[in-house]
Amino acid sequence: MTKSSKTVKSIANADSVGQPLAPWTYANQEVFNLEYETLFLSRWQLVGHVNDVPGIGDFMTLDIGRDSVVVLRGKDHELRAFLNVCRHRASRIFEESGTCQGVVRCPYHGWTYQLDGSLMAIPQQENFPGIDKSGLGLHAIQIEVFHGLVFVRVKGTGLSVADHFAHTGHYFKEYDVENYEKIAEPTVQVWDANWKIAWDNYQENYHIPIGHPGLHRLVKENDEWDELDSGVNFGVFVIREKPSRIEEERRYQEMFHHADRRIPDHLKGKWVQFGLTPNLGVDLYPEMLDIFQLMPVGPDRTVVRSAFYGHKNPTPEEAELRRLNMSINDAVNEEDEILCARVQKGIQTHGYRPGPLSLQEGSMFNSHEMMRDLIPVMSLKDAPPANTIRQKNEELLAEQHCD
Ligand code: FES
Ligand SMILES: [Fe+2]
Repeated sequence: MTKSSKTVKSIANADSVGQPLAPWTYANQEVFNLEYETLFLSRWQLVGHVNDVPGIGDFMTLDIGRDSVVVLRGKDHELRAFLNVCRHRASRIFEESGTCQGVVRCPYHGWTYQLDGSLMAIPQQENFPGIDKSGLGLHAIQIEVFHGLVFVRVKGTGLSVADHFAHTGHYFKEYDVENYEKIAEPTVQVWDANWKIAWDNYQENYHIPIGHPGLHRLVKENDEWDELDSGVNFGVFVIREKPSRIEEERRYQEMFHHADRRIPDHLKGKWVQFGLTPNLGVDLYPEMLDIFQLMPVGPDRTVVRSAFYGHKNPTPEEAELRRLNMSINDAVNEEDEILCARVQKGIQTHGYRPGPLSLQEGSMFNSHEMMRDLIPVMSLKDAPPANTIRQKNEELLAEQHCD
C-alpha cells in the first residue's frame, strides 16, 4: 500500500475506527527487534536544535536504542551527522554534548578525525602497513534541518521531514521555532511500558478527563484536529476561560495572554500538539516548545526524553508562564507514566482481546495501520512460534509486494 503524504483524512467523519494492534505485539522481543530496525533506525529522529550547536566543533548526541548518533558542526559551519562509533575498534567517541577543539579524537587509541568526519591521523601509523585513510572516516548518516530542529536518519529512504509536515509546517514558521534556543536541560525517564503503549497514549485525548484532571481543567481537547497519512497527527487545544480552582492552573490561565504577542491571531489562546510516528511529540505553546520523545529499551521498557525550547530573552511574564507550564506538564507526564505501566501489566493478561477504539483514538489507529503496513507480521492476531517471526514477516512482505 502506498500512502500519499498529501492525503488529509478526518477520522471524525468515519463511522468507526478499526482494530488496534494485537496484545502480543506489545511484549515480544522479536517484534521489538523488527520495530527497532524499521521504525526507529529507518525513520527520522530528532537530535536537537541548531542553536544547541552554534559554534565550530560543537556536537550533540542522541542514543537510539543500542545505537548512538552525533551531530557535529564543521569548520565550514555545516552540520553533519555520523554514527557515534570509531572506525578502528568501535569505541563510542562522543558523550552527551560539548565542543571538539579542532579535531575529534577517539579516547581509546587516539584515531583522529577532522570535523567533517574524515580520518586525519592514526597514532603509530607505521604499524598499519598500506592503510588507506581515505575510506575510514566516521560513518555519515542522513541529516535534515526543519525550522531549526535537527533530525537524522540512520538508514533507509522515504519522505523528508518537510514532506511529513507538508500540511502543518507553517505552524513551525508561525511560532518562529527556527530562532528558538534551549530553555531548560532535557530530562530522561525510564517507563515500565512498551514504547507503543506510551505512543498510543500520547496520541489519544480520550484519557484526558479521567487520567489528567488538572490538564482537563485547563484545556479543551480536540477543538480542531486532523489526521495526516504522512505519519503526522496534530490537535489544537484551547485554554478554558473558566478559572481553575487550583492556584497554579489559574495563574497560568491569567498569565496566558502575555505570550500572545509572539504569535498570529488565529493561534492565540491555544496549544498545538504534533505527533510524528513512531516516537516524537512536539507541543507548541505561545511561551515555549516541548519535545516528548520515546526510545525503545526493551519490550517493556522505554526511555522518555523531554526537551524544552523557546524564544531568547523572554519577558518576566513569559518566564513565569514557562515555569508554570513545565510544572503542570510534569504532573501530566507522571500521570501518563503510571497509566502506561498499568496498560503494560494488563496487556499481557492471558486471553485478553482488545476492545473497540473510540473516534477519539483515530490517530492511534492510524499509527497501528502504518506499523502493520511496514511490519506485516504485526497484523497477526496471535504470535507466530518463537524464532519464526522475522521469517514470517519477510514472507508477508514478499506477498505484499506481489499484490
Ligand atoms: S577504537 Fe578508536 S582508536 Fe581504537
Ligand atoms: Fe496523557
